[in-house]
Amino acid sequence: MKRDFPHLCKPLTLGKVVLRNRMASAPMGATDILADGTPGPRTLGFYEARAKGGAASVTVSELVVHPETDGSQMLHLSLATPGQLGAFAYVADAIKRHGAVASIELSHSGQYAGTYMVDKDKKGSLCQWGPSDGVRPDGMPVRALSSDQLADIVTAYAEAATLAKRAGFQMCMVHAGHGWLLNQFLSPYFNKRTDEYGGSLENRMRLLRDVLLAVREAVGSGFPIELRMSGSEFFEGGYDVEEGCRIAQHAQDLVDLIHVSAGSYQFGFSITHPSMFRAHGVNVHLAARIKQCVDVPVATIGGLSDPAQMEEIIASGKADMVAMARALLADPEIPNKVMANRGNDVVKCVRCFVCMAERPITQTRRCAVNPLIGREMEGLEITPVVRPRKVLVAGGGIAGMKAAHTAALRGHEVVLCEATDQLGGILNTEAALPFKRDMYELARTYAHLCNEVGVEVRTNTRVDAALCDRLAPDALIVAVGSEELTLPMPVSDDAWVISIDELYLENTDPGSDVVIIGGGLTGCECALLMAQQGRTSHVIEMGPELAPDANIRNRPILLAELEAAEVDVLTDARAEEVTASGVRVRLKDGSERMVGSAGASVVSAIGRRSRNAVVDALRDSAPFVRVIGDALRPANICLAMYEAHHAALDI
Ligand SMILES: Cc1cc2nc3c(=O)[nH]c(=O)nc-3n(C[C@H](O)[C@H](O)[C@H](O)COP(=O)(O)O)c2cc1C
Repeated sequence: MKRDFPHLCKPLTLGKVVLRNRMASAPMGATDILADGTPGPRTLGFYEARAKGGAASVTVSELVVHPETDGSQMLHLSLATPGQLGAFAYVADAIKRHGAVASIELSHSGQYAGTYMVDKDKKGSLCQWGPSDGVRPDGMPVRALSSDQLADIVTAYAEAATLAKRAGFQMCMVHAGHGWLLNQFLSPYFNKRTDEYGGSLENRMRLLRDVLLAVREAVGSGFPIELRMSGSEFFEGGYDVEEGCRIAQHAQDLVDLIHVSAGSYQFGFSITHPSMFRAHGVNVHLAARIKQCVDVPVATIGGLSDPAQMEEIIASGKADMVAMARALLADPEIPNKVMANRGNDVVKCVRCFVCMAERPITQTRRCAVNPLIGREMEGLEITPVVRPRKVLVAGGGIAGMKAAHTAALRGHEVVLCEATDQLGGILNTEAALPFKRDMYELARTYAHLCNEVGVEVRTNTRVDAALCDRLAPDALIVAVGSEELTLPMPVSDDAWVISIDELYLENTDPGSDVVIIGGGLTGCECALLMAQQGRTSHVIEMGPELAPDANIRNRPILLAELEAAEVDVLTDARAEEVTASGVRVRLKDGSERMVGSAGASVVSAIGRRSRNAVVDALRDSAPFVRVIGDALRPANICLAMYEAHHAALDI
């Protein structure tokens, strides 16, 4: 067989372990963690999905090695309680039985222990331990670890590695990046020590080398150790990539693979987890530079999901492996698809950060585009049906396509009707926003997937009761979406008002001065786009803050982008009248102001409402009727996909 991506499909030998391909599942914390730090059954399912999906290795994330000084036990794995090894052995087995290498990340958060705690007060007077005395940006005091404590921590790494190996893990990752303890010691910003652990690079590396030596002694030769490091810290006072090269050079004799990530969790979250505002593979250059300086294999990570791009990275020698985190939530089957020359079937991560935002909120994981994530044990597998039914899906947006695709995969006969001439629904608008391009691509992928599984697509076809009578479906899924709300305030006849849909779908030129009414997520993204296009951009929001409901990880990044783009922001401001010479706005103090110049365009971004009349007219059109997505209530892609999946499973 001729492989489309031969370099990605090539095995790699590390120590005595053979990785079946070059695509690794990067560490991601599961959330079903019991009070004693053991993985629960959903955690097993969480990791098993990626092993099944064909990843070369699956790294179970963040085993806290020294709970005595790493106060963030909540939602972290620990081997510290005797008699709990079995739970880890089951997870290792679940990874290995699908041919993947089971790896585990050995970690210590150092002074950032507890950053995941939802209620930090619960930590009471717990103090965080780091390289040097100080105070964290959130006010937590930090105390310097003594050399006795450091010796204890080194021993704890070795003990954790011993136990992990006994549980059946075949490889381990020592986490020395992203601003956690070992990184804090490497970093001139955090490490102000004057003893043998601080000052020169040799001293700052001492703790890392001690840990690696102890782990090596614990696991023996041939057991691969992967070093995870930040190639550059990317903040003032931190180390740069040239120092990153020296760190890698001085660690390479003790490790089998150097995994080059970037930045730190606390200062540069969107570098470590490249946001939608950054290029895919934005951090590859770090791995490429470090690879020039070392003799061991190097892995790269950061916003990767496209097989062609990943193939090029390996083929051109920038890295020996690619690791993926979010991409393998969106589609755990990427490695299998790559191996089977099915690159076009990959459902790509849209970098919306639902995965990361869900844990602090509900203490579970979710993925906007993969409803199975975090719910792996709930019988959600797409099982074939015994008696195929006739399924009609009304609406070819993402919810409709997802439902149609899932129903067809189960063996149902599916007709998908879309009122316009193109599948995609609201995601088609995202094509206009370069930073949301992945969302638009998601619609294209699902259109392709529906085609692959034999969904009969009828565009320019509205579903009404008469059509239902003719087709007589057993099941009707109503996914007719939502429509824009119109501005509720007086609008003068000569005012230039454009709706979001017109702006994005009809390529309307809004001129050089644009006032956006509505500072929710849609309005903010529009304001940013306008500024990026070189227009003067104003956003008017009635509430006290912009995009209050936006994803808690994405929101600060979006706000920083708005600030950098110099968008004129007005909050606590009510738009009272839209005129040809701007928008008249009432501010909180009662004063009035005109926003925008004469001739400015006004974009209405005040929200959407479900197409209730269409929905109501279809309620009695089939024995099984399910309303999903925006047609139920305007929400987000995560809910739409989840409801679509379940509607199709329930038929
Ligand atoms: C949901 C989630 C959980 C993560 N948990 C961990 C973790 O426990 N340990 C770790 O080293 N990195 C963790 N990361 C970071 C990833 O391993 C990875 O470095 C980062 O997401 C960038 O890769 P990506 O662009 O492929 O997602 C996590 C990332 C995500 C999205």
